[in-house]
Amino acid sequence: MNFILLAGILYALSGVDAQCDDKDLEIVCYWGSWSIYRKDIGHFNTSHINTDICTTVVYSFVGLDINMDITSLDTNADFGSNGGFANFINLKEKNPCLKTVLAIGGWNEGSIKYSVMAATDESRKKFAQSVLQFLVYYKFDGIDIDWEYPTIRGGLSQDGDNFAALLKEIKNKLSPWGLKLSIAVSIDDTLIGVGYKIRDIAKVIDSVNLMAYDYISSDSKVTGLSAPLSDIKTTISKWIDGGLPSKKLILGIPAYAKNFVLDDPNNNGIGAPVAGIGRPGLFTQEDGLLSYYEVLDILNVISDIHVEFSDGTNYAYYDDEWLTYDNEATVKTKVKHALDQNLGGIMMWALELDDFSGIYGDPYPLLNAIKSSIDEYQSSKIRNAK
Ligand SMILES: *[C@@H]1O[C@H](CO)[C@@H](O)[C@H](O)[C@H]1NC(C)=O
Repeated sequence: MNFILLAGILYALSGVDAQCDDKDLEIVCYWGSWSIYRKDIGHFNTSHINTDICTTVVYSFVGLDINMDITSLDTNADFGSNGGFANFINLKEKNPCLKTVLAIGGWNEGSIKYSVMAATDESRKKFAQSVLQFLVYYKFDGIDIDWEYPTIRGGLSQDGDNFAALLKEIKNKLSPWGLKLSIAVSIDDTLIGVGYKIRDIAKVIDSVNLMAYDYISSDSKVTGLSAPLSDIKTTISKWIDGGLPSKKLILGIPAYAKNFVLDDPNNNGIGAPVAGIGRPGLFTQEDGLLSYYEVLDILNVISDIHVEFSDGTNYAYYDDEWLTYDNEATVKTKVKHALDQNLGGIMMWALELDDFSGIYGDPYPLLNAIKSSIDEYQSSKIRNAK
């Protein structure tokens, strides 16, 4: 056996890390683990997670216990056979380069507990230690902090500084073991410089997942776009101008529609009065939200539906139903903008909301649109460079 062959074999046996290209653009895929409880075609477990396109998968959510330590919020989901941390981590067998991240927080956890946890140096250190222990015990590659949101929803004005101090503490704890730290942030621009001290955050964070959707609130009195491109461009600029290196910013894309009930079916443009929050989808069962496969169902079934393209996204209406959503074409425009701005990649909320099993075509249309848009962008750059 010659030396080069032997060296190659030793290299191959030495683990996969060396072969995983960290310089590639990120495709960050969130999974809402409660989707294991959905029925029929809505049911989503770890076997449905796409491990070819996603570079990072994010298990959502765990929370805080009474001691302000990290804890499971649903032991059946997190430790059961349907989903669970163990099955999630085992996805690395399908793709050894896949990064498995755990998200803590989310909308339902609220803000106050996080405000209290982050309030003192002692409680920050204690939490950071509990995160380190939790990650290594369950074998996650990193933590994503989804505090929704510092300084509001019951938080304090000091939350902004406390949040930055908290992230620094977590980073110091995690980095000796190479564990990653990311955050998910709101598009609310009143939080910039207040809840989000960008320059301080930028020093310690690996990436910032920009939740670039819900620009219109579910309790809005008039219709509006959930993820309009002009507003997204502004939000991206604010983070970069605020001091975040563009490569650390990941643009989020929604795989869901927000919907409303129109006051008057004949008044159906943007800014039309609404009678209330949208009716829940058959499978997702949540007011004001439809998964992309539920949107596709409507588009297929309702013959007199009107679809309009507006500001880099779409809205549609029929009778008194009004919805705002992205499709493959608008995803492509958003990806192009993100890459033009030299961002670090694209995020999708969430895997279980895309047409993951391909009821209306190939599986994962939106995730595939992200991937193919990135590939096209990169190959046209190479062509232009020649
Ligand atoms: C995951 O869902 C599929 C159906 O889509 C089902 O066949 C399989 O048994 C589920 N896995 C677990 C572990 O429940």
